[in-house]
Amino acid sequence: MAKAPESKVKTSPSKHPAARQRVALPASQSPARPARIAVAIMAAGKGTRLKSKHPKVLHEIGGKAILAHVIATAKQVVPAEDIFVIIGHEAERVREAVAGTGVNFVLQREQRGTGHALMVAREALSGNNYDQVVVLSGDAPLITPETIRSLSEFHSAQKASMTLLSADLDNPSGYGRVIRGGPLVQAIVEEKSASVRQKKIREINSGFYAFSRPDLYEHINGLSTANPHGEYYLTDMAGVFSRARKKVVAIKTSDAGEVLGSNTRAEMMMLDARLRLAKIRELLDNGVTVFYPHTCVIDSDVEVGADTVIEPFVQLLGNTKVGADCRIRSYSVIRNSVLGQNVMVRPGTIMEDSRVGSGAVLGPYSHLRPGSDVGEGAHVGNFVETKKIKLGKGSKANHLSYLGDADIGDGVNIGAGTITCNYDGVNKHTTVIEDGVFVGSDSTLVAPLKIGRGAYVAAASCITDDVPADALAFGRARQSIKEGWARQKREAQQEKHH
Ligand code: UD1
Ligand code: CA
Repeated sequence: MAKAPESKVKTSPSKHPAARQRVALPASQSPARPARIAVAIMAAGKGTRLKSKHPKVLHEIGGKAILAHVIATAKQVVPAEDIFVIIGHEAERVREAVAGTGVNFVLQREQRGTGHALMVAREALSGNNYDQVVVLSGDAPLITPETIRSLSEFHSAQKASMTLLSADLDNPSGYGRVIRGGPLVQAIVEEKSASVRQKKIREINSGFYAFSRPDLYEHINGLSTANPHGEYYLTDMAGVFSRARKKVVAIKTSDAGEVLGSNTRAEMMMLDARLRLAKIRELLDNGVTVFYPHTCVIDSDVEVGADTVIEPFVQLLGNTKVGADCRIRSYSVIRNSVLGQNVMVRPGTIMEDSRVGSGAVLGPYSHLRPGSDVGEGAHVGNFVETKKIKLGKGSKANHLSYLGDADIGDGVNIGAGTITCNYDGVNKHTTVIEDGVFVGSDSTLVAPLKIGRGAYVAAASCITDDVPADALAFGRARQSIKEGWARQKREAQQEKHH
């Protein structure tokens, strides 16, 4: 029998790796060529415990589908072409959601358990002479590339048939328990089948494994469905291998938090909180100030530059990138947008799919809808709504406006209450406002329309025709005066009362 394996994952220097470099994978002892490693991600299950019409692995934590986290991590260990995602429940939705990652998919039509998932993947994994299959759970998104590498390396070094990643949990309930016979693992017992004694074991099976691919497929038919769920459990491979005198070992993770799964909404909430807190720590480490971080919602993929200050109750979502030296004031919600440096976002600004140049000032209460491109040093003020516009350098729209489908040049002043009438009930039309134009307050600009460079639009104008450069355009009824009219009316009313 093998001697006791030194089985602890080395504490990784960074939990949420900023460094994305690929570390060379372990060479298996002999032959001398590096082990060929495939990663299988099990993501076919329904997630019954969530009581959801959406597949479990598409639920989001940290603003991103759980499965997308797992794939992103796997891609830091092996290239996408060596990753096989096993899909089944709502397979097409799941595939579509992560297709952009370039991974392979394996269809598990009927979901008859985690063991069955690997049975179905046999053919897909038979290519490329893979030596090793690393199995990840599509519902456990906090795993790090360092831990996956440690698992894989340990497995190679041990020349085991199966290596499982285990963890000591204070509350192990719900997880499979690791039954050891000395240094080797004899079996994994699922919660439902565990005896009272076994339930007291705190070392749990994390659902992450490394297998020798040839051994796995030589023995996988040893699985049966004789268990409370009537499923093929991948966990039973430990017993199957043990009985065949093949080596099964476990490596314990130093951070049990990494292996947590998301079977219930409560677990998802916990994972979400963990991930977001880790994200905020990363931002703080990078020189960002976040006040009252527990009130902020910052998604995993968000980037923020140094010396930017994020006030309470801010949401930074999706692929948002905020430059250095910005200030994001309270109640602003920014999604999939890119902000330059030194941008001031005043309270209550809502922004989606937009770009904002350096030194711009937004809000309070600006609404930048998709396609808004605000130039350097430009101002968008309170109750200004923009959509699909370019606002040039230093241009200002400070109060109460709607600017849609507009191409606005540099140094333009948009007066309070200006409206681009971009929609005729059928089609959208563009308004072009060239550099240096001054649009007086309360103007309605009926598109399609072009206002030439340096022109003036008089306040309260309704502009329906193009305005040539440097011209003044009036588009309002002429004012008329009736001298004494108000006094006469007052006097007439007073007479009535007497
Ligand atoms: C599993 C392990 C348990 C371990 C826990 C860790 C089994 C039998 N049990 O339990 O020992 O402690 O993970 O989180 O493996 N899936 C498929 N096809 C199927 C069934 C499941 O792809 O037919 C996928 C699921 O979508 C999920 C993953 O496999 O992503 C794990 O399945 P799940 O039902 O969540 O297993 P657990 O009960 O958590
Ligand atoms: Ca699970």
